[in-house]
Amino acid sequence: MRKKIVAGNWKMNLDLQEGISLFSEITNMVKDEVRGNQEVIVCSSFVHLASLAAHSKSLNNVFVGAQNLSQEEKGAFTGEISATQIKSTGASHVIIGHSERRAIFNEDNETLSKKTDKALEHGLTPIFCIGETQEERESGSFFDVLKKQLKEGVFHLSDVDFSKIVLAYEPVWAIGTGLTASPEQAQEVHAFIREEIASQYNQEIADSISILYGGSCNPKNAAEIFAKEDIDGGLIGGASLKSRDFLDIVNVFNV
Ligand code: PGA
Repeated sequence: MRKKIVAGNWKMNLDLQEGISLFSEITNMVKDEVRGNQEVIVCSSFVHLASLAAHSKSLNNVFVGAQNLSQEEKGAFTGEISATQIKSTGASHVIIGHSERRAIFNEDNETLSKKTDKALEHGLTPIFCIGETQEERESGSFFDVLKKQLKEGVFHLSDVDFSKIVLAYEPVWAIGTGLTASPEQAQEVHAFIREEIASQYNQEIADSISILYGGSCNPKNAAEIFAKEDIDGGLIGGASLKSRDFLDIVNVFNV
């Protein structure tokens, strides 16, 4: 059975104390709710990782992740953070290829594939994001765009490594805009992603990979989206900054 995952992406929000306090609110509320094949992951800025991970250690199925990593091992890369450094905080996951990294920081598929390798090499689980822009959706080229992101970003991985990653489909036009893909639009893309995985790898691997939806997911729309057969949870931006909203999204899997 595929893992059901709700991952928060705090982006560049919250100072250290605010982050610690939101995380303890979240963990106090979710600790009895997350069970079986469910996982909750909070992806914060680097500054929070060690404190949050120390706290999550005692909790089942609650994990901490970073939002980026360097593709380099170590050395003279001022301002960068390595996989080893992230791992040493106790964090276990890392978001790779978020559309803000692709668009604002010019991270291309080649760089992202190296970051994915580096994360896996050090035992971090990549949450690899793909998604099309509004223009690409309207022109109808979005399936090609998504296919290219998969092919150049993660399809070089071995069967064993590919089986360790989590994918997130985040249409760029839905991120932080209040516009959500309809459950049908999201399901159509998730099914397409799964078919692409099946043809690159095999059906068993395709059926085992969790594919999350992201983009203006909130307590009101999450249930309908997560009910679709190929949608295994969400990557949550804005709504992950409010403990009550985040918990309500986590609880979608408990009704
Ligand atoms: P949003 O962000 O939920 O605020 O749209 C999602 C994301 O960027 O991961």
